[in-house]
Amino acid sequence: MTHIIDGKEISQNLRDKLKKDISGLKNKYNAVPGLAVVQVGNVAASSVYVKAKTKSAHEVGIEIIDHHLDESTSQDQLLELINTLNNQDNVNSILVQLPLPKHMNEQTILDSIHPDKDADGFHPFNVGKLSIASHNDENLLIPCTPYGCLLMLKGLKIDLVGKNAVVIGRSNIVGKPMAQLLIKESCTVTVAHSKTKNLPDVCRNADILVAAAGRPEMIKGDWVKEGAIVIDVGINRIATQRDGKTKTKLVGDVDYNEAKKLASAITPVPGGVGPMTIACLLRNTAIAFKNSKNFFH
Ligand code: GUN
Repeated sequence: MTHIIDGKEISQNLRDKLKKDISGLKNKYNAVPGLAVVQVGNVAASSVYVKAKTKSAHEVGIEIIDHHLDESTSQDQLLELINTLNNQDNVNSILVQLPLPKHMNEQTILDSIHPDKDADGFHPFNVGKLSIASHNDENLLIPCTPYGCLLMLKGLKIDLVGKNAVVIGRSNIVGKPMAQLLIKESCTVTVAHSKTKNLPDVCRNADILVAAAGRPEMIKGDWVKEGAIVIDVGINRIATQRDGKTKTKLVGDVDYNEAKKLASAITPVPGGVGPMTIACLLRNTAIAFKNSKNFFH
């Protein structure tokens, strides 16, 4: 029987633990972690994510410092706001929702966030720290989606050492940090991407297949090795026909129904990786708070 990995349940367990943890921090320090959420413009998907992040943060006892800026905000104005937040005591971590408007350079903005307040773990300092880290990641700020994927793998209670892991996608947000995390677990890691030759065969070699290509259902069932673990990071909205009407539905990067027949464990879309990302963002905020209090020393 294929195990369907329940991201909602794992995310809820993590958030329950964080809520207790934050309540303990409040007693100890008479303060709660603060997360600044910055949205520029009104991209519909960003508004949905920001709303979900705000709701989850409140539920675990994190204070949200909300900044919703107009689409026409200049890059310098945004940099000024980030500078203010970098120096604001009740702000422990800063999340700038991507994508930013075209007239801004995303990397310049991400680089301007103080590395100690880097809610996403996207700052080059934290990217470097993750690549150097060999053990004990309890105080690292790690990109949220790949860390969520790792927690799902760890939840399966299987030995990851020496497993062939194939990550499809080489983005800074998912593919590259996912590869770093799997190396840290002593997997043998291949990063495949749009230029990879013979991708189906590369995938067939995977004990662990992480799909973060951003293309709906591109990973076919017969690319999956029997018994493999499949983690599907994709969230794609596609049009379907039902009762003669055109509707839309969410699908992953994997052909779920076919892959499920071969995988030993697989994440669904929705309800798989998605809910983990927010839980890991809240975790990073709690870590940034603890680091500001020298909690780990
Ligand atoms: N936009 C889509 N995913 C993310 C994410 O993980 N972090 C940020 N800051 N923006 C996003």
